[in-house]
Amino acid sequence: LQIDVFPTREEASAAAADEVEALLRKKDSVNLGLATGSTPLPFYRELVRRHREEGLSFAQMEGFNLDEYEGLPPEHPESYDSFMQQQLYAHIDARESHLLPGIYQNAEEACRAYEEKIVEKGGLDWQLLGIGGNGHIGFNEPGSPVDSRTRRIELDERTRRDAVKQFGTLEKVPLAALTMGIGTILEAKRIVLMAWGAGKAGILQKALQGPVTAEVPASFLQTHGNVRILIDEEASQG
Ligand code: F6R
Repeated sequence: LQIDVFPTREEASAAAADEVEALLRKKDSVNLGLATGSTPLPFYRELVRRHREEGLSFAQMEGFNLDEYEGLPPEHPESYDSFMQQQLYAHIDARESHLLPGIYQNAEEACRAYEEKIVEKGGLDWQLLGIGGNGHIGFNEPGSPVDSRTRRIELDERTRRDAVKQFGTLEKVPLAALTMGIGTILEAKRIVLMAWGAGKAGILQKALQGPVTAEVPASFLQTHGNVRILIDEEASQG
């Protein structure tokens, strides 16, 4: 695991943006696995800035998001679909954005279709991840096996409590989500995990230096040969 510590999250995010820019300049087709939440905000800001100020084109980029809350239509303000539109897609010229649905008839069918789409497009070149307080990546909560695929999952109590600041009350936080699996994520050619602030230091240390275990799903990243961890000083103090 390559671990790079930066003084600020903005500088770390610029390093991630450099990787994406290099891919866009090199390849005719770039599939990015994307995350939501507070962690990637400065990264998306930097991509949008490069598009606006430096003319960086995303015309050959397709994005595949990690997860979506069950029960939220795309236009719901807390859906990850809305988040991605607001933070990224409304401001750049990406070729296509793919998200798991919040509303569906059949979860298995929706998840299988998503996996097929990723394969059909040639796989993920670059996957962005944040880390949950319980060590989740995507919504792969503790207990998620290394070979798990895209599926429906019930959210942990901890994850739902962390989402109260967005939804207002615990009752409004969805009980379940669709998420790419650990196995799906580990098939990405390159993985970049970002984390900021002292609140992430403890779980990062467990995930990066502790035993590889389903109890800390991010620990499975230790088994992938091409992972980069981008963190700020505070997150490095674990
Ligand atoms: C988001 C996702 C989650 C978050 C994690 C950290 O699409 O899949 O794993 O990356 O919960 O969230 P923040 O960045 O809000 O601390």
